[in-house]
Amino acid sequence: MLLCKTPAEMQAACRDLRGTSRTLGLVPTMGALHAGHLSLVSAALTECDAVAASIFVNPTQFGPGEDYEAYPRTFDEDCRKLGSAGVHALFAPSAAEMYPSGNTTFVDPGELGKRLDGASRPGHFRGVATIVARLFHIVQPHRAYFGQKDAAQVAVLRCMVRDLNLPVQLTVCPIVREPDGLALSSRNRYLSPDERRRAPILSRALGEVERLVKQGECSAEVLRASLLAIFADSHDPLVRLDYAAVVDPDTLLPLTETSHGALVAVAAWVGSTRLIDNLLLAPLA
Ligand code: PAJ
Repeated sequence: MLLCKTPAEMQAACRDLRGTSRTLGLVPTMGALHAGHLSLVSAALTECDAVAASIFVNPTQFGPGEDYEAYPRTFDEDCRKLGSAGVHALFAPSAAEMYPSGNTTFVDPGELGKRLDGASRPGHFRGVATIVARLFHIVQPHRAYFGQKDAAQVAVLRCMVRDLNLPVQLTVCPIVREPDGLALSSRNRYLSPDERRRAPILSRALGEVERLVKQGECSAEVLRASLLAIFADSHDPLVRLDYAAVVDPDTLLPLTETSHGALVAVAAWVGSTRLIDNLLLAPLA
């Protein structure tokens, strides 16, 4: 695996890869890799002749007081995982390389970037759209791989690709979970053993929504109320709901009913760690 530390090195490496392979795939990450990230890598390796990955803890997507400094950094272990998975090139720039002083151009996703996590984390999706646009320009992949775990991120990036006519096809991979349902996340390692025991409340609440949907329920209000009830009934002082929403998966605007498909999304604080999870409902046949 070729390790590139500067945009110029990565640009050259990817130009070579595109020259010798029919399709180049990109898996952008912030590192602290787990099986969720590796599922994207393996989808990319299955579908593309060459695969590039990136590891960059992107400062512009963290708000003041968020966990940018504390974000887990496990670079050597991440390199081993990506190398043994078969990734061809890894881009791991420093913040100074990516954001030299005088860097003033951003990609702003507008109103879409202010919904769900964008409402709780102002500026977050502006940072995400900016870094992903730049990674796309550096790597110029044919395909790029993202996780359904970050459903609002997927909506923002799909919209960006469409609005800017970027020549890249996005593939969205399913959420990888722990055996007890907790969605894998680099932030799970912040959880104390006690918090870790409580964290599956998100997936449990979504499981209840799924059960109601299977029984034929398609009122967004009823589904949302069932999510709220699970959090309220837990009476757990360590768990605090941030949002519970039933929205259109593309616009992230609230729906009244779900028969044409819906994204059921939840975010909650468990102790001082903010976790997210979601359930994508297919349109009724
Ligand atoms: P990061 O949180 O490292 O996630 C990288 C990719 O892995 C994202 O597409 C995310 O949705 C996916 N992922 C995370 N947990 C997953 C899980 N349990 N199952 C499946 N996929 C999962 O998302 C980011 O980084 C950043 O915002 C980034 C896109 C790299 C821009 O900085």
